[in-house]
Amino acid sequence: MIQAEKLTKIYKIPEKAPGVTGAIKALVRPRYRSRIAVTDVSFVIDPGEIVGYIGVNGAGKSTTIKMLTGILLPTSGEVRVFGRDPHRDRVANARDIGVVFGQRTQLWWDLALIESLTMVDRIYEVPDARFKQLITEFSETLELQELLKVPIRNMSLGQKMRAELAATLIHEPKIVYLDEPTIGLDLLVKEKIREFIKRVNQRNGTTVVLTTHDLGDIEELCNRVLIIDNGVLIYDGPLATIKDRFGKYRQITFETIADLNHLVVPEGAVVLEKEERRLSLRFDRSITSASRVSASVMSQIEVSDLSLTEPDLSMIVKQIYQGGLKQGTAAPEQSEMPAPGVVSEQVTESG
Ligand SMILES: Nc1ncnc2c1ncn2[C@@H]1O[C@H](COP(=O)(O)OP(=O)(O)OP(=O)(O)O)[C@@H](O)[C@H]1O
Ligand SMILES: [Mg+2]
Repeated sequence: MIQAEKLTKIYKIPEKAPGVTGAIKALVRPRYRSRIAVTDVSFVIDPGEIVGYIGVNGAGKSTTIKMLTGILLPTSGEVRVFGRDPHRDRVANARDIGVVFGQRTQLWWDLALIESLTMVDRIYEVPDARFKQLITEFSETLELQELLKVPIRNMSLGQKMRAELAATLIHEPKIVYLDEPTIGLDLLVKEKIREFIKRVNQRNGTTVVLTTHDLGDIEELCNRVLIIDNGVLIYDGPLATIKDRFGKYRQITFETIADLNHLVVPEGAVVLEKEERRLSLRFDRSITSASRVSASVMSQIEVSDLSLTEPDLSMIVKQIYQGGLKQGTAAPEQSEMPAPGVVSEQVTESG
């Protein structure tokens, strides 16, 4: 359904020296800086999938989404959506897709929601009966009843996002691209939106491409995850695999009666935190086990309490963002590594 083949986007940023001279120089002989935002990204997305697209700020997620939707033309590589070029066949493509950019609204600021929805309905020529049916349904699932007569400009962030989703899905697109649909929203609204996305996917088989910094969105919605780092796709596969591969670390914390000065750290474990009477260890469960680590500690010192923590997705993803995946393993020390650098830049001249 969606095919991306070696997608690359290099932005050309005009450079201008300060002042009037700079402005004149820029007119006569423009200089550009290139910024490589996305490099050789390839993937295929099948109908009905919900794919999570994640990466740190500036990794290239929105740029990819813009190329998939036809808003941006790739510098090189190819996108096919339903076999079409989404940029060249923008009109045909628009019927099949819906897009939400969480950072900005696409609705008419001064119109009441119902008027906006009616406009969308006219643009896409949704049959009347179907439109009514969907309004009723969306009003219920997104709790929009009270909002239909409210202009967008008077809505709160969470209300706007719910309105946005309704407007994006009223023509029942086969694919929706959601770029941070839950950004800045409270937990209840997030939950509502996740349920809504899930429902649309299950009922209509709608394909969903979702970028988000909220790993709760990913856990609840996506079976498959793409991870982009510095413009390069570093992972494409099931969420479960990431968890298996990186979830091999466990953390165990001991409260002790005496102080810990002479403790010998058990084999296969590293110290995460050590205070006078409190010790947190991380161990690789493919090397050792919780019972061996705790037996070793308890043979050395009297323990008053202990707890074992399963790694959550955010811990795992942090390791991956910090380079764990590229090196094939996620060594505990890597969590101390600095975050990957910004997108590579080079200066070129043109004109
Ligand atoms: N219109 C543009 N002109 C020049 N550079 C751009 C433009 N849009 C994005 N970039 C740069 O391209 C890189 C990728 O940006 P992009 O918006 O795709 O990242 P992102 O993964 O969506 O980040 P975020 O999580 O912050 O939304 C960044 O370095 C950004 O500064
Ligand atoms: Mg973005």
